[in-house]
Amino acid sequence: MDDARDRVAAAAGCASREVIFTSGGTEADNLALRGVLERWGAERGRHLVVSAVEHEAVLTTARGLAEAGRAELTVVGCDRAGRIDPAEVAGAVRPDTVLVSVMLANNEVGTVQDVPGIAAAVHARNPRALVHTDAVQALGRLPLGLDALGVDLLSISAHKAYGPQGVGALVARHGVFPAAQVTGGGQERGRRSGTENVAGVVGFGAAAEVAERRRETAAPELSHLAGWLTDLLTESVRGLEPTGDPAARLPGLCSFVVSGCRSELLLAVLDELGVSASAGSACSSGAPVPSHVLTAMGFGDLAGSALRLSLGRSTTQALVDAVAGRVQMAVARVRAGGGIAAPIR
Ligand SMILES: Cc1ncc(COP(=O)(O)O)c(C=O)c1O
Repeated sequence: MDDARDRVAAAAGCASREVIFTSGGTEADNLALRGVLERWGAERGRHLVVSAVEHEAVLTTARGLAEAGRAELTVVGCDRAGRIDPAEVAGAVRPDTVLVSVMLANNEVGTVQDVPGIAAAVHARNPRALVHTDAVQALGRLPLGLDALGVDLLSISAHKAYGPQGVGALVARHGVFPAAQVTGGGQERGRRSGTENVAGVVGFGAAAEVAERRRETAAPELSHLAGWLTDLLTESVRGLEPTGDPAARLPGLCSFVVSGCRSELLLAVLDELGVSASAGSACSSGAPVPSHVLTAMGFGDLAGSALRLSLGRSTTQALVDAVAGRVQMAVARVRAGGGIAAPIR
């Protein structure tokens, strides 16, 4: 456990004692929001600021707290590339703002936010407001660090970096001490009780070390392959538009909207063709709900036509070429069915 904590801390850019192991990114996000509100709400205020493109783990939690009357919530919008404006976030901050939560890299469209700029703007407006970033997508792909990002809390999850599912961490700056949401025997320095998931934590430590060691070489390779795939598809598929910020994107994430293709139909055909793709976030893929991220980005009806392809360690140039061909085929099939997938043989 100690060894794994050191490795995770090295990858996350914090001190080992600042790592709180959790059951994953969702619990880490919950601990950040609920724990900070409970610890600091009475003293500093109960106002939360989150962005409209957060993962459900943040957005649903923040909305739930507001609906229950335990917090006041301001949701800050984004532009068509999914970018959050630091000045707009700072403009939403009030004297009673206890926490601002803006993710580092978006899981649906890959846009990387200017978290250091956002944190600086928030702290300039209200030095007591804490800043959390959901960095679940970024582990092993972008440099992390409480100081480098200027944040007080940061969530990560092992399975996004080839570690085991069901383990993650909230990194909380020394002194922040979010109130435990799982209480009991006082494990994790009283911040998260329960016998530790030792096997998961050890796996997380190993995965975090490998991910961090490989990051500087892996990230440019992934960006190159993702750019290649994006170019191939934009040139060959009419009505396909890349989404997210082309200038600041998560290495290895390709995202599009495809006019005339409902996501659920496209995913079903791609699955038959042996391509694992997703539409909205992985957690809700398959469910025909338009992406809240694309909706916030102003895509309107096209928010139901999202396609996301995630590249990883095993992705080669040959695989990218093959996938591009199958996406072309799948789009043609869905369109030929007039929006209903042609029978799959
Ligand atoms: C940005 C983001 N936050 C949070 C989560 C939730 O993490 P976990 O699946 O470990 O609960 C995910 C998972 O997909 C994610 O992409």
